[in-house]
Amino acid sequence: MSNSALSLFRVLGSISGFLQLTSLLGLLLLLFKAVQFYLCRQWLLRVLKQFPCPPSHWFFGHKIQMDEELQETLKWTEKFPSACPRWLWGNRIFFLVYDPDYMKVIMGRSDPKSQSTYRFLAPWIGYGLLLLNGHTWFQHRRMLTPAFHYDILKPYMGVMADSVRVMLNKWEKLINQDSCLEISQHISLMTLETIMKCAFSHQDSDLLVRNFQSYIQAICDLSYLIPSRLRNAFHQNDTIYRLTSAGRWSNHACQIAHKHTDQVIRQRKAQLQDEEELEKVRRKRHLDFLDILLFAKMENGSSLSDKDLRAEVDTFMFEGHDTTASGISWIFYALATHPEHQQKCREEVQNLLGDGASITWDHLDQMPYTTMCIKEALRLYPPVPSIGRKLSKPITFPDGRSLPKGIIVTLSIYALHHNPKVWPNPEVFDPFRFAPNSSRHSHSFLPFSGGPRNCIGKQFAMNEMKVAVALTLLRFELLPDSTKVPFPIQRLVLRSKNGIHLHLRKKLQ
Ligand code: HEM
Repeated sequence: MSNSALSLFRVLGSISGFLQLTSLLGLLLLLFKAVQFYLCRQWLLRVLKQFPCPPSHWFFGHKIQMDEELQETLKWTEKFPSACPRWLWGNRIFFLVYDPDYMKVIMGRSDPKSQSTYRFLAPWIGYGLLLLNGHTWFQHRRMLTPAFHYDILKPYMGVMADSVRVMLNKWEKLINQDSCLEISQHISLMTLETIMKCAFSHQDSDLLVRNFQSYIQAICDLSYLIPSRLRNAFHQNDTIYRLTSAGRWSNHACQIAHKHTDQVIRQRKAQLQDEEELEKVRRKRHLDFLDILLFAKMENGSSLSDKDLRAEVDTFMFEGHDTTASGISWIFYALATHPEHQQKCREEVQNLLGDGASITWDHLDQMPYTTMCIKEALRLYPPVPSIGRKLSKPITFPDGRSLPKGIIVTLSIYALHHNPKVWPNPEVFDPFRFAPNSSRHSHSFLPFSGGPRNCIGKQFAMNEMKVAVALTLLRFELLPDSTKVPFPIQRLVLRSKNGIHLHLRKKLQ
């Protein structure tokens, strides 16, 4: 045999040896993963034994359609007291909690946000206040708290009222054509404009206003894509996800959202180049949100990187408008379906504001009935339906049941607010649940969460909702469209699958 034939055999031999070895290693790895999966599953089944739940598939879990999750959870709430595990896929579970005593124990601790769920938000909103944990979270929270000081929020009243009036004027024109309207898109535009003017010192600019629509559409897409990725076993890996059509869609939506926020930052930086504007801002006792960030960067450049700044802007741009848009849309729906309460609110507002030419900070505390109705609507339709934590140490609940470290708990605000053991006749809209002398568990009503990680924008949001309700009721009577009853679905915020359609009837003033 020639030398060249011999070396060919040797090469082939070594290739086949290599293939055999890799197959063997692959097989071993697979076996190792299977054993790991099995052991982890056995451990989970053991530690969750005290918490019964409906039967589930060993890999595909409870197989609930994303759009039916809220309704399904409510059925479980009645059957399984306080809490129950929901198997998503494989060994991934959400441990659903909907009991006020359980909520109290969890919110009294400092467990971090669960990275395996919140990390899917990171390509879009980065590590801003919502996603941060530990010391950096604390530093950012301390830095940004003054942006929600009473002195800052007071002058925002005029801005909020102007944005609401722009929307109502548009509605007046539109109802000449057709009195039934899908309101949630209009409300999103209005709340985006408000947060842009209040927190981001935005002054009207046609270019930005044109971008609003594409930004809102991008947020709507991400609001669907992120929760559906979380529920898909095959979309967990970043590299694989990027190759899928959903991954490419998500990337495109992030780019649109970032284009909007980059433009906002650039524009404000350019304004602050002007000495006069800079001096005006320096003289202020409290700065607006974006100015706090820009000044923190100017004064101590190293403490806040460009990436940190963008993350905070993306976080507040989203949290500051999508949540309130959801809140206001559902409040309007609740009032439309309860005309007697709507009329009482209108009378209260009319007595207080007359024709509504001006609404000020002092008016906010003088509309108790309207506030009760807003709270009752937030109970039935909480804009943030659930939040997540990862247990950093074992926990024991007041009924003696316990969970080990590492479990991801989902605090279902929606199920808590609809829990019949907490709220008798939970589906009935009854504002008197929030009457001044009524008593309830400290953790039975948590639209803004609780504990140290509660909503930083709570006061801002309550003000905006009150202004929107007061001015709208003065101008319109809201009536439901019986052909299009909204269907609540869980996205990043609570939405309606088929939009929120109302009939608007102009009130004679
Ligand atoms: C009706 C309106 C709103 C509701 C129902 C709401 C609800 C919530 C909830 C439940 C959380 C806790 C999230 C979690 O633990 O994962 C939260 C956090 C947060 N909210 Fe709101 N929110 C509203 C409006 C706003 C507004 C207007 C802003 C900003 C202007 C805002 C900014 C934030 C931020 C930055 C956080 C994270 C706080 C932290 O972890 O320190 N929210 N909100």
